[in-house]
Amino acid sequence: MDNSCRPIGVFDSGLGGLTTVNELRKILPCEDIVYLGDTARVPYGTKSRETVLRYAAQDFDFFKQFDVKFTIAACGTVSSVMALDGGFGELCTGVIIPAVEAACRATKNKKIGVIATGASIRSGSYGRLIRQLTPDAEVFSQACPMFVPLVENGYTARGCVPAEFFAREYLEPLKRGGVDTLILGCTHYPLLSDIISDVMGGGVTLISSGAEAAKYAKRLLTEKKILNPGTAHGTLRLFCTDSPELFRENAEHFIDIGGAKVERCGLGN
Ligand code: DGL
Repeated sequence: MDNSCRPIGVFDSGLGGLTTVNELRKILPCEDIVYLGDTARVPYGTKSRETVLRYAAQDFDFFKQFDVKFTIAACGTVSSVMALDGGFGELCTGVIIPAVEAACRATKNKKIGVIATGASIRSGSYGRLIRQLTPDAEVFSQACPMFVPLVENGYTARGCVPAEFFAREYLEPLKRGGVDTLILGCTHYPLLSDIISDVMGGGVTLISSGAEAAKYAKRLLTEKKILNPGTAHGTLRLFCTDSPELFRENAEHFIDIGGAKVERCGLGN
């Protein structure tokens, strides 16, 4: 098949990567997308580096059968751990570099906050990359382990008491630090944007790592001249490793998946 007509693969440990799919469908509506959510093994953010790398290798392998032209690891945890382990090849990306570039462009006072899973924060990858791009930046990092379960279970709306409680707990130190830009370093977190924004205040720019990865992919595909030249709407195929019914139910919080079929697949263990 012509390179440009092949699909784009996007994966995450669960549903968070759908924030990337959402953005991709807005900015690259003619691309076919295959999404994998490893819902049977979510969260990755509480796992060891070795386990995250093993899962990530299996996730990448999954896309071989679709002959994808580009793969997005729409998972902050995989991106952080892989950044320490040699990074990504030419035709794939994680979410860190796109998010960090956007944050460094956005900040005025050079105080940048990063919130992400425990594994991402422990890796130190976000902080290191920010300092590479903006050496005099002050970075405030905070792991938010309760955010992913809240999002996966749909507890995301303003007024949700547990979500507001944990947001205040996690974000208060970053607010006190005076950050003007906050990287949502886990692709699940944009679903909590309203609550996060209420705690941080309107003057703080929120950077969605998942959406930035989609924009980055568009730039790369454009440079490599492998954008789909078609004019028809691209297809969306969704795969998960646990119940498709549950996936569909929870995915509705993230994205309008319309008539897209959700299929169950197995990944090597
Ligand atoms: N979406 C994943 C990330 O961006 C988080 C969930 C997890 O812990 O697996 O890190």
